[in-house]
Amino acid sequence: MTPRTRAVGVEIAGSGSALPEHRLTNAELETMMETSDEWILQRTGIRERRRYDTSKPYPTTELGAEALGRALADAGMRPDELGLIVCATMTADSPTPSVSCRAAATLGCGTIGAMDINAACSGFVFTISIAHELIAGGLYDSVGVIGVDTITRHCDYSTFGRGAAILFGDAGGALVLRRSDDARKGMLAQAMHSDGSGARSLYIPNGLGQIVDAEPDPRMDEKIQMNGKTVFKFAVSKFPEVIEETLDTAGLRAADIDHYVCHQANSRILESARERFGLPESKLRINIDRYGNTVAGSCPLVFDELKREGRIEEGQRVMFIAFGAGLTWGASLWQL
Ligand code: COA
Repeated sequence: MTPRTRAVGVEIAGSGSALPEHRLTNAELETMMETSDEWILQRTGIRERRRYDTSKPYPTTELGAEALGRALADAGMRPDELGLIVCATMTADSPTPSVSCRAAATLGCGTIGAMDINAACSGFVFTISIAHELIAGGLYDSVGVIGVDTITRHCDYSTFGRGAAILFGDAGGALVLRRSDDARKGMLAQAMHSDGSGARSLYIPNGLGQIVDAEPDPRMDEKIQMNGKTVFKFAVSKFPEVIEETLDTAGLRAADIDHYVCHQANSRILESARERFGLPESKLRINIDRYGNTVAGSCPLVFDELKREGRIEEGQRVMFIAFGAGLTWGASLWQL
């Protein structure tokens, strides 16, 4: 891919996030399965994660709508001024309608277009690149991009499922992307990749037994299956690779980026990237200790934290990076 040039600019006009109230701590997990705070903390850096209220009928939609509502308020826009909603999720409350359709109705966005995209943990990063092009290409003046998942519904909180269950938490985040007269603003480079031959290393089976060749194990139905070591190796190699690819496309060096907004899968994976590129802690935020791996919610959650702390400024360069099931991985580099 070559660096981007465009006639109109695209700005990140606002951000927002939403979290369930319930803090599922490592200590609480100790009461549910054979595990320990020490084991989890040492291997993943996670202390607690949030879990949606299981009595609520549409938790993914609720979190997504709440996050987008906050992003609209941050952008100073009314819901009925938004042009389109695209939502990255792999845990829609039902196969149809989509989270984005319900979120549009909840927020009062009128009859605007709304659709979901599933690229697992890479979903939000892929979706902001796509949404950028819809504005840069002149089709829309503004797009609301949501990244949201209630992945804990697919976690098995018994000792059988502990390998994956301890990692995940629920969250939603959103950005409002808007057309800008400043053509320097917008996406400088992007990368999207997939390798379906790695599907077995991270997947959620259903009763039909897809993916697994063996007779389906009822304990596995609808629960996350993960080969932790294989995924770890994949992430540790692809994560720096996609950063380098995106920097090369933009003709920039690692030091030219102000914030690496990264998918939070494991603090060791993030720390190895910090080391590899010689980044100070301030350029690569790790918040996995408080939220765990929140799938499509993780990147917008990190961005929104930085924004609310006043650390996001006009003129900065921000790279969003993610990897996950599929397997998928990608990056989207922005000039603010
Ligand atoms: N608590 C205590 N022990 C556990 C455990 C838990 N929650 N989960 C697994 N174990 C045990 C295993 O049963 C195994 O025991 P054994 O040696 O007696 O067989 C032992 O701990 C080691 O398990 P293993 O899976 O090899 O651990 P690991 O060192 O690979 O760490 C992960 C596991 C999941 C933390 C690590 O592989 C990882 O982070 N992988 C990447 C996952 C990821 O990023 N996924 C999302 C991508 S978007």
